[in-house]
Amino acid sequence: MKHDPRMDFLTAGLEAHLPVDGARVVLVGAGPGDPELLTIKAVRAIESADVILYDDLVDRQVLEYARAGVTMIHVGKRGGQVSWKQADIHKLILEHARGGQTVVRLKGGDPFVFGRGGEEVALLRSAGIKVDVVPGITAAVAAASSTQIPLTHRDLSRTVTFLSGAGPGHGLPEFTHIDLRALNDGQHTLAVYMGVKTAGALGRELLAAGWDESTPVLAIENASRDCERRVRATVGDLARRPKSLALTAPAILLVGRVAGLPVEGQLDIVEAARRTASPERELEYA
Ligand SMILES: C[S@@+](CC[C@H](N)C(=O)[O-])C[C@H]1O[C@@H](n2cnc3c(N)ncnc32)[C@H](O)[C@@H]1O
Repeated sequence: MKHDPRMDFLTAGLEAHLPVDGARVVLVGAGPGDPELLTIKAVRAIESADVILYDDLVDRQVLEYARAGVTMIHVGKRGGQVSWKQADIHKLILEHARGGQTVVRLKGGDPFVFGRGGEEVALLRSAGIKVDVVPGITAAVAAASSTQIPLTHRDLSRTVTFLSGAGPGHGLPEFTHIDLRALNDGQHTLAVYMGVKTAGALGRELLAAGWDESTPVLAIENASRDCERRVRATVGDLARRPKSLALTAPAILLVGRVAGLPVEGQLDIVEAARRTASPERELEYA
């Protein structure tokens, strides 16, 4: 088979590197927010940590499982705000692991879903450092169960795609890697991550790809947290009046027929816009 350099990360660290004695890193999925959605394995890893490097979306209650005296470092990254660079996070992980400490890299949701977990595993393998991964409940799955919207459904959704709404450098998405037209078969659900600021662009791309403007959209903000908010709209609304959803991050947008199933406590787009109370809500939508 022809060598594809893009796949090198899969084998990185499996060749010549001698293991670094005692060093261990665990990439732990902290789930969507509700600490009851942590796995037992995640809790044990957090309890065993000497150092915890945690992301922005990790709920503070999750950090309470850590032992007293553990070194906690917030390495949050947020679109559009001053934040940690991935290269600096890499340096920090290596520095602590090489000091022989048990490092927990705590990430919102699941480490391998839009979480840069693949890069961190490759880094650690190539440095000869033992790495384990503990899965977490990813936001789309949490949003679906919280609202009782099934991501797949025998009659309404036979496939589901997890999609990033953020383009390179947190700019507008370029849906060049995905055939939105092919997914427009009335049997497909899109679960869009990082799509709050780019909701308008997503709506326009879907319309351009032939999706019906009445296709249901359900936006779920802060899934699984006490402040969870659900807003119902359509693809046409996304394209024409994304501000009316008055969304703040983090939110998942479910798009497709399942998103039209009844949901308790949902706001329609008019009500959502009316209740757009606080001026601190981010209202820059593309
Ligand atoms: C960088 S991605 C990380 C995804 C994470 N690894 C996961 O598996 O859920 C951040 C995005 O995840 C989504 N997200 C994370 N937590 C969420 C929550 N509690 N409710 C809704 N969306 C959430 C949002 O779309 C947010 O912009």
